[in-house]
Amino acid sequence: MPSKVVVGAQWGDEGKGKIIDILASRADVVVRSQGGNNAGHTVESAGEVYKLHLIPSGILYKTTPCLIGCGVVVDPKVLLGEIDGLESRGISCDNLHIDPRAHVIMPWHIALDGLSEKARGASDIGTTHCGIGPCYMDKAERCGIRIYDLVHPEVFAQKAAAVCALKNKLIVNVYDGEAFDAARVIEEYTAYGKRLAKYVTDVSVYAYEAIKTGKNVLFEGAQGALLDIDLGTYPFVTSSHPTAGGATTGTGVGPTCIDEVIGVIKAYTTRVGKGPFPTELLGTTGDEIRNRGNEFGTTTGRPRRTGWFDAVIARHAVRINGLTSVAVNKLDTLADLPELKICTAYKKPDGSITNDFPPTLEELEGCEPIYETVKGFEGDTSACRSFSELPQCAQDYIKEIEKLIDCKVSMVGVGPGREQNIER
Ligand code: GDP
Ligand code: IMO
Ligand code: MG
Repeated sequence: MPSKVVVGAQWGDEGKGKIIDILASRADVVVRSQGGNNAGHTVESAGEVYKLHLIPSGILYKTTPCLIGCGVVVDPKVLLGEIDGLESRGISCDNLHIDPRAHVIMPWHIALDGLSEKARGASDIGTTHCGIGPCYMDKAERCGIRIYDLVHPEVFAQKAAAVCALKNKLIVNVYDGEAFDAARVIEEYTAYGKRLAKYVTDVSVYAYEAIKTGKNVLFEGAQGALLDIDLGTYPFVTSSHPTAGGATTGTGVGPTCIDEVIGVIKAYTTRVGKGPFPTELLGTTGDEIRNRGNEFGTTTGRPRRTGWFDAVIARHAVRINGLTSVAVNKLDTLADLPELKICTAYKKPDGSITNDFPPTLEELEGCEPIYETVKGFEGDTSACRSFSELPQCAQDYIKEIEKLIDCKVSMVGVGPGREQNIER
């Protein structure tokens, strides 16, 4: 298996965790490159459910090194909680490695995420309140604290005291919030640093050496294409690059190290948080899909908005990621709906038709999805293990998606379990 990047090709929660877990059985190394604990990746194996936020979804394989690259923002408290949670269930995290360049989510980032969302009022983004945006802001501003700093107490104390003083001014004077006690924060986070020191490794070197020596490296994307800070539905996006390019810059290897890019999509569309969603279903069909698909956020528990499959956004994802194939999850959820709709293009307010996702919200506004209606399929598909076992209308639905997005469907998910996957 050559180096593969797995990315979300909608608005996140497409089932990337499950696909990574499946592919990790054939991988030598798994690496996360962007995002933070805003991600919630579910892996189901042998009746056990694991919800991973920062640790790569390859962790269930005992001997597979799992790397957290320089592009990830790490909340040390959450990471240690996740390590402890996994180890208490008998999953060793000894094979975890964290790049010293990765930025640390500090408590003021979390506070500022909440305060800035509150200040936005009705125009809030609907973030996960994990401090993701404020942490990436500091990285771009060049005042961030990195994993290297965290595990070097003297460096950390000095940097944290200086940044805390600045952040307190912002929190108190601009947002009318409560100041942080720098000494207490330093004490608490120094303890986290002590525990995390043993995991620190140059991930760029580790991943590059692995690739050079013919090992199979699997890059695990978080979030999804439409949440990309540049190419998503800005400003209703996250603060990183969940697209394939983010896998290289966020790991520290070049694009020539990547052989395949797999986009993960659902057989319908979901979105959690605010922002445009052209094919959203606000009535009973949307509720039915939400309930059957158990569409509630892995990280925040929020109900996910649901809608029909949108080939316009999927084509956008194919283009901006250079997808070589897609995995379609949750086909089983659509069973027994009498008919299914697929959005093939958008009609613009001036009556013209576009096949391409508009670059700005202003241009997206007023666009109406154009649907084609196909026959639904009946019966439980969750036990199907080959494409030909699927009801004919389910096969036709997948083939129609494949045709509309002009990208091969290499996997079809029929349930949350590791084995509930059809490889084509
Ligand atoms: P991720 O963030 O992309 O890893 O996705 P999440 O884990 O947040 O959400 C996907 C949800 O769908 C999880 O609860 C998975 O267990 C579940 N899931 C994944 N694939 C399938 C599938 O093919 N069928 C069903 N019914 N559930 C699936
Ligand atoms: P996984 O990896 C779905 C959404 C939030 C919000 C926006 C910005 O599980 O697919 P942030 O906290 O990142 O500043 O929030 O992005 N969001 C996700 N939605 N899946 C995710 O991750 C997400 N991570 C962030 O809901 O709309
Ligand atoms: Mg998720």
